[in-house]
Amino acid sequence: MKLNPSKETHLTGHDTEIQKYGTVTNRPISLDHKVRLASVDSLNQILADTMTLRDLYKKHHWQVSGPTFYQLHLLFDKHYGEQAELVDTLAERVQTLGGVAIAMAADVAETTRIARPPRGREDVTMQVFRLLQAHELIIEAAHEAAKAAAANGDDGTNDLLVSDVLRRNELQVWFVSEHIVGAGIADKDEEAAHSLAATHA
Ligand SMILES: [Fe+2]
Repeated sequence: MKLNPSKETHLTGHDTEIQKYGTVTNRPISLDHKVRLASVDSLNQILADTMTLRDLYKKHHWQVSGPTFYQLHLLFDKHYGEQAELVDTLAERVQTLGGVAIAMAADVAETTRIARPPRGREDVTMQVFRLLQAHELIIEAAHEAAKAAAANGDDGTNDLLVSDVLRRNELQVWFVSEHIVGAGIADKDEEAAHSLAATHA
């Protein structure tokens, strides 16, 4: 296909679309249009948040500082790679259901609920805090979406959200949160232990 310069504006418009974002085409996979639409909607939200968390890991991989520089530099890149795999898994599930996966940075920036970090460098405690906050947001959304998918009979989406998204995010939270012993998380656990002891008293 030859590009006509006079039609250049078409490249930035919507008139080139063969399927609108937010719609689902038919797929003979024994799932109602309504069910596939609901799953695609929550998968795209989790996809946008996962892309943002993936990029947050790369930012921190580059910008990390301090005595734990090397181990965090490596750990953040490992998690980046694992989140990148989840991005592909989520996007391909959206397409499998007949939907359109969110893809480009500008659209992701408009959609994600993860707070935008500054362009500059932050210390390790702040980096870890941002990562844990992003993980928890995704974990919460995955729990909710998995429950809804199961109730709707979308077992494939439920399995993906539980086996891939939930478990991977929970595991990464373990590895990241162990870097801030004594910086809030240990206190929270202690509080929970105290309130548990009080209930049993
Ligand atoms: Fe690198």
